[in-house]
Amino acid sequence: MRIAIIGGTGSQGLNIGKRLAIAGEDIIIGSRKEEKALTKVEESLELLKDYDDIKMEGMSNEDAAQAGDLLILTVPLSAQKPTLQSIKEYVGDKILVDATVPLETAIGGSPARFVDLMEGSAAERTAKILKKTDVKVVAAFNNVSNSLLSNIPEPIDCDCLLAGNDNEAKQVVKEIIEKIPGIDCIDCGKLEKARMIEKITPLLIGLNIKYKSQFGGIRITGIPKK
Ligand SMILES: NC(=O)c1ccc[n+]([C@@H]2O[C@H](COP(=O)([O-])OP(=O)(O)OC[C@H]3O[C@@H](n4cnc5c(N)ncnc54)[C@H](OP(=O)(O)O)[C@@H]3O)[C@@H](O)[C@H]2O)c1
Repeated sequence: MRIAIIGGTGSQGLNIGKRLAIAGEDIIIGSRKEEKALTKVEESLELLKDYDDIKMEGMSNEDAAQAGDLLILTVPLSAQKPTLQSIKEYVGDKILVDATVPLETAIGGSPARFVDLMEGSAAERTAKILKKTDVKVVAAFNNVSNSLLSNIPEPIDCDCLLAGNDNEAKQVVKEIIEKIPGIDCIDCGKLEKARMIEKITPLLIGLNIKYKSQFGGIRITGIPKK
């Protein structure tokens, strides 16, 4: 299975890509500009040169969406709609993992504040934008910080909360993400649960600012995880 990261040149997407490539996944880094994707892939391959069999390729977002079997969207809220519109014709019935968090930065505000969306959550907004397709949207990675992801090879001491309407899709996503050492995925239920999941992120960003850390994350206790 090829995993295409749409908007994969940013801090979140590229670090997810590196972690999944180390875990043995075949990764495509997508960008609005193919050249930028190729440069980021070259830098990543250099960084990961001590790992065996790293599979990572750079492409335009459109080519990535076409070539990928599973898509991961990692763009800021302001780029969510134009990016999804640019790849709409290629998503078909694929799984699309949405990491978007509606931070107030989208309207010039604080990264420690949430901005309310008409659709309820960014993941539901993605589902609405792609409603004429058969895509299966799964919210994930929203609470896993890029600092934790980039801290290679340290394990990630954090749970990854999932939400989505398709149980099989969530299981596929869980199995892939749990290849990253330390992460446990928790299926929180239907896609509308993304309304709560996404709100945790500005809280964590605020805690990182308050306690001068970069590694704030969450662990849910008291429930079976496997
Ligand atoms: N960073 C974190 O720790 C973290 C944690 C959890 C969730 N998230 C969420 O993950 C998403 C990505 O975060 P990030 O920090 O990686 O974002 P970012 O670095 O600001 O942007 C990611 C990529 O999106 C594309 N992009 C940026 N502005 C765009 C625009 N106006 N139109 C179209 N494409 C644009 C760019 O790719 P190209 O220029 O190559 O096209 C960029 O490299 C966000 O929704 C964020 O809330 C981030």
